[in-house]
Amino acid sequence: MAINIKNNAVVVDRFLRKYFKNQKYSELVPAMKYGTLFGGKKIRSTIILNTAKIFKLNLNQVINICAAVECIHSYSLIHDDLPCMDNDRFRRGKPSAHVKFGEATAILAGNSLLTFAFEIITDKKFNIKPSLKVIILKKLAECAGHVGIAGGQFLDLKYEKSKIGSSKIINMQKKKTGKLFQFCCLAPAIVSNQNAKTKTEMSAIGDEIGLLFQIADDLLDVKGNKKKVGKPVNNDKKKGKSTLIKLLGYKKTLEFALSRKKLIINKLQKYGSRSKKLIEITNFILNRSY
Ligand code: IPE
Ligand code: IPE
Ligand code: MG
Ligand code: MG
Ligand code: MG
Repeated sequence: MAINIKNNAVVVDRFLRKYFKNQKYSELVPAMKYGTLFGGKKIRSTIILNTAKIFKLNLNQVINICAAVECIHSYSLIHDDLPCMDNDRFRRGKPSAHVKFGEATAILAGNSLLTFAFEIITDKKFNIKPSLKVIILKKLAECAGHVGIAGGQFLDLKYEKSKIGSSKIINMQKKKTGKLFQFCCLAPAIVSNQNAKTKTEMSAIGDEIGLLFQIADDLLDVKGNKKKVGKPVNNDKKKGKSTLIKLLGYKKTLEFALSRKKLIINKLQKYGSRSKKLIEITNFILNRSY
């Protein structure tokens, strides 16, 4: 299982490295590469590749989407670590981007990674129908923006040190993290021209996998090993982050996550053996130690 993720990470990293090489150079490139290429599980692109298996797509039909999603995710982490946000100095086992390059460079490299994602998808060499690209671009923009990652990050900060109920926490987490996972499960359904019902179903599954992923991240903040996770632990409590753990405690949160995971897997089983890999990664998300 872990091998599956590592293999996918290698494929996506290789593509991104080559992509950077073929681009015009700017002085922001080292910080952009630092944010994307050195570490990171590449779990979101693994989800795209595993969902692509359900719809019988090949690598060339989704690889640019994988790279774009990893750029957006990396941008969100660079900004998440800034002093005005989570103020974390350690990421993927190394100094955070703003510690290494300075705040202004980190902000600009983050911005550039966000727009780079759209360049990668609109690239002429990415050979899917232009009409499908437009649908994908619109969805990706929505998932990254004010009703997605950015909006969720806003709520995450707003909810610090306050008493927030579970439905608001879940809504915040589905935005800051779930939306990009939603996109990862939806994009292969768009590329393979599935009907509206299937697309809605895949979006809902992606939302749920994303929520599961964020809950697992919160659980790791409590029980994880700093070296293994490559970032600070015991941090959320210190910052007064509103998490389900704060509300329900560790054990009940884990039980909640396990029951949500079961529902996801039940939904995926209808796709038979083609959803095997996506089910594997869904299981990994909650069992992971990094
Ligand atoms: C961390 O994401 C941020 C969250 C949304 C919880 P990952 O755990 O996927 O980070 P990397 O890319 O593997 O470092
Ligand atoms: C970050 O959540 C979610 C993002 C969209 C970047 P966290 O703040 O919990 O992520 P980590 O723990 O710093 O990786
Ligand atoms: Mg954060
Ligand atoms: Mg953080
Ligand atoms: Mg966290």
